[in-house]
Amino acid sequence: MFRRKVKDIMTDERLDTVAIITDGNGRWATKRGLLRSDGHIAGAKRIQPVLETFRRIGVHNVIMYAFSTENWKRPKEEINVIMKLIHKYLIEVVEEKLKTDDSFCIKFIGDLTPIPEPLRSKCIELENKAKDRPFCCSVALNYGGRDEIVHAANAAFADGHTRLTEEIMSRYMYTGTTPDPELVIRTGGNLRISNFLLWQCAYSEYAVIKTLWPDFGDREIMACVRDFYKRSRRFGGLDKDEAKKK
Ligand code: IPE
Ligand code: IPE
Ligand code: MG
Repeated sequence: MFRRKVKDIMTDERLDTVAIITDGNGRWATKRGLLRSDGHIAGAKRIQPVLETFRRIGVHNVIMYAFSTENWKRPKEEINVIMKLIHKYLIEVVEEKLKTDDSFCIKFIGDLTPIPEPLRSKCIELENKAKDRPFCCSVALNYGGRDEIVHAANAAFADGHTRLTEEIMSRYMYTGTTPDPELVIRTGGNLRISNFLLWQCAYSEYAVIKTLWPDFGDREIMACVRDFYKRSRRFGGLDKDEAKKK
């Protein structure tokens, strides 16, 4: 049903990679008189259904912002809750899924060095369990767009490159072979990029939706996708119709 609805609005525009800034867990909890940690618990529950919906409509990569390089500024207790929740989610959901679904894999983007154990090892283990499957979720963990660009440049120099090009830089990004996202969705209504995929989003379409992440579902996905297909992606050129007239 949902898939048919999306087919009706699809154009020949490609929608292969979607990135999401999953924001609003704290506000969701505060609005209900709950603790911020309850918001993160509710947010974690949304991940799997959202991934499934994107998969059903033909998307192959979803990049999710789980924890930024700036999120270390939060109180220690909140950071602990987030790390524990990610670990629990990886064991209870992702590990099981990797066993039963041979078209799914998970990647981590970001600098995992300061991620506490045993979470760090679990991330590496699950990433190595399955690679290059048709549907991939990339989790941005201790991820910062600026950190990624500096890391990529240093890694390229360390490998002997003396002159960087866009192609070389792209290759050294944490995202590796994952294509640049055609669409970036931010929940929670804030109109900012918060250091997310600065290199990869040069020509991405943005959809900012007021809905808080724990309330983000099929209706909201449909709204973002519909909006995406209505846009004219010119990449600095002209509209397809206009270009034909010349
Ligand atoms: C996003 O929700 C989750 C993380 C940053 C880990 P927030 O915790 O930022 O929620 P708000 O923006 O305070 O509502
Ligand atoms: C972005 O949300 C990071 C994640 C969703 C993990 P933040 O809540 O950290 O962003 P700011 O502080 O509003 O820019
Ligand atoms: Mg936030």
